[in-house]
Amino acid sequence: MVPFFFITQAVLAVVTLLLVFFCLKNTKRDPRYPPGPISLPLLGNVLQLVRDPLGVLQKWAVKYGPIFSIKMGPQDTIVVSDPKLVKELFSDVNSTGRAPNPVTHYFGDGYGIVNNDGRIWETQRRYTLRKLRDAGVFKSSIEGFIMKETSTLTNYFQQNVGKPIPGIKFYTGPFVNALWRTISGESIDWATSEKPDILKGVCDLLNSLNRTADSGLFFAPFLRHIAPGYFGWTGWVNSVAKVSFENFVAEISPPSLSLRDFIDNYLVEMQKSEYSTSKLGMDMGEKNLRAIIGDLFIAGAETSATTLSFATLYLIHNSRAQRKAQQEIDRMVGSRPISLSDKPLLPYTEAIIMETLRLSSILPVSIPHQILADTVFHGFFLPKGTTVLASQYGIHHDPKIWGNDVNEFRPERFLSEDENHVVLHDALIPFSVGRRSCLGEGFAKDVIFLFVASILQKFNIKPDPGCPIVDIEPQSGIALEPKRFKFVLSLRE
Ligand code: HEM
Ligand SMILES: *[C@@H]1O[C@H](CO)[C@@H](O)[C@H](O)[C@H]1NC(C)=O
Ligand SMILES: *[C@@H]1O[C@H](CO)[C@@H](O)[C@H](O)[C@H]1NC(C)=O
Repeated sequence: MVPFFFITQAVLAVVTLLLVFFCLKNTKRDPRYPPGPISLPLLGNVLQLVRDPLGVLQKWAVKYGPIFSIKMGPQDTIVVSDPKLVKELFSDVNSTGRAPNPVTHYFGDGYGIVNNDGRIWETQRRYTLRKLRDAGVFKSSIEGFIMKETSTLTNYFQQNVGKPIPGIKFYTGPFVNALWRTISGESIDWATSEKPDILKGVCDLLNSLNRTADSGLFFAPFLRHIAPGYFGWTGWVNSVAKVSFENFVAEISPPSLSLRDFIDNYLVEMQKSEYSTSKLGMDMGEKNLRAIIGDLFIAGAETSATTLSFATLYLIHNSRAQRKAQQEIDRMVGSRPISLSDKPLLPYTEAIIMETLRLSSILPVSIPHQILADTVFHGFFLPKGTTVLASQYGIHHDPKIWGNDVNEFRPERFLSEDENHVVLHDALIPFSVGRRSCLGEGFAKDVIFLFVASILQKFNIKPDPGCPIVDIEPQSGIALEPKRFKFVLSLRE
């Protein structure tokens, strides 16, 4: 008698053989397609990537060159790990698609910015970017919002001098508030023990993002069809349904005349557009407004808060960098509140932030793009529908670009020799580059600058003596964050 499981195995073997045959047959492709490692049917290179994706991608870049191919599940994917090539490719309209990804799948739904492409993406992005960046009434109220938030933060620290403060997830509250004020003009109190709804919502969402990102779903989105519970998809969908951003903007109140916040500005633009023939008119609408609000939180809150956690962690380990920044602050600003116009006076603080963005590289492969039309790029053929990853972590940790101390925190690498001004570097691309680059870059840099400078002005940052930090390596994953740590502040005298 043949045991049942032999039959099953035989069937499996035949199916596997068929699959392999099928896949081999299908890999006959344009000879100009970028080279890359051999992949399994269906799973692609996932098994090689889940454990240490960043290390493996770096190794492959050395082996196959700055443009190589992998498979994320069955999805053809190109990895670009040279800063000039990333810039050139991402400046081409053909690369401005957004690749389908489970992490962003539930947002936008054809509206908004992050998970959208084509004409609506373009008009919504252009409008939002202009509002966040251009000078004007709104821009100057943004500075007021974030300065207020900065003083809330330093007051909180003042009351907690000498007590251990958790290093991760801590800055989410202050950052969500800075964003929420900018978007709605309203304020929430993140320091109370009862978390406000919007903050609770963002935290829940981020926790489920973490679960999804860690599960392999990123490298093989299709796995959600096979075992949705196991790979975290079910949990993700449930929590997203629970925390739908629609709740937060349930009542979009009529705009106030002062146009102090983003929602006011957008609503007025919407009203204008309805009666005009402007191109914006057709694409504006409440659905897009809601989607954009979700986008700004998802793309903006965790990224910025995590960058601040990394800055705190690196500074704990570098009291010399703290001293240098503090001496500069004392000399150039003194004890008055720091404002954005002080930025050019404080190059050392700015260099600390640039070095933090480089070393941490919290979005190590950026947010995946999709090729919209067959493209020939530096002799390589990139077919329509291919996913593109920009290897930001690999670029930021390439010893050929940064030298042998690439894994060390050294703000001076972004300073002129006399250390009197900041020197920009083409290979520093934490916000990506080109037509889809981060549209919160200016906002994020402004808030992070004010937070870091104001903290260093008043406090020294030290490790928690009860829990000394041994390791500054990030938790591995597809969105990086530090391992758990605590810090203690002391007042400067
Ligand atoms: C340190 C903080 C931040 C980092 C490192 C960061 C990084 C990035 C990166 C790498 C992308 C992908 C760009 C691409 O697809 O090529 C992106 C997109 C985006 N970011 Fe940020 N970001 C940060 C903060 C923010 C903030 C504060 C906001 C909102 C105010 C924001 C809004 C967006 C939006 C809307 C997109 C999508 C752009 C598009 O698809 O066209 N980000 N960000
Ligand atoms: C993210 O998820 C993993 C596993 O689900 C967990 O071990 C880790 O602590 C989480 N990170 C945070 C900061 O919650
Ligand atoms: C981009 O796509 C268009 C078709 O829409 C094609 O004609 C063009 O050659 C592509 N660009 C490159 C650089 O291949």
